[in-house]
Amino acid sequence: MKIIRLLYYSHATREMSLADLKDILETARSNNNSIEVCGMLCYEQQYFLQALEGERETVNELYLDIADDPRHDEVVIISYEEIAKPTFTQWKMGYAGSSAQFTELLKELGQSTFSPADMSVDQASIFLQKMSAFQTDV
Ligand SMILES: Cc1cc2nc3c(=O)[nH]c(=O)nc-3n(C[C@H](O)[C@H](O)[C@H](O)COP(=O)(O)O)c2cc1C
Repeated sequence: MKIIRLLYYSHATREMSLADLKDILETARSNNNSIEVCGMLCYEQQYFLQALEGERETVNELYLDIADDPRHDEVVIISYEEIAKPTFTQWKMGYAGSSAQFTELLKELGQSTFSPADMSVDQASIFLQKMSAFQTDV
């Protein structure tokens, strides 16, 4: 079995409310549970940054579904790599929005506002890994 980590960012087609985010996460968590995908989602200033980890074909199909979702556009893959084992195993889909840690971590990456398009592959990966420890309840 080939395990893949796919990172992408996108731009929400409108400002997401807590209810909008809850809706996305409820679907994601229930679906990812049955297809054995895990990952992490960040949302701030109308940008999404997401990691998806799981079996290669499953992640590919899920990504195509997600990329087609009208709630966002300008979907850009940051990286697609084979990994030895999933790292976000605790979360069917973790979530982090704006928080003191979020701002602090951005500052460490030299960003004053959340701009995933300006993150390198390593920065995006580290950002998601680190934010998985500071999740937001929605
Ligand atoms: C930013 C974003 C992230 C999403 N992440 C996931 C996810 O991890 N898993 C998932 O099943 N759906 C996710 N969705 C929702 C899918 O786009 C889609 O609505 C869902 O797979 C249900 O599809 P269906 O109605 O065809 O079953 C996400 C949507 C958005 C906008």
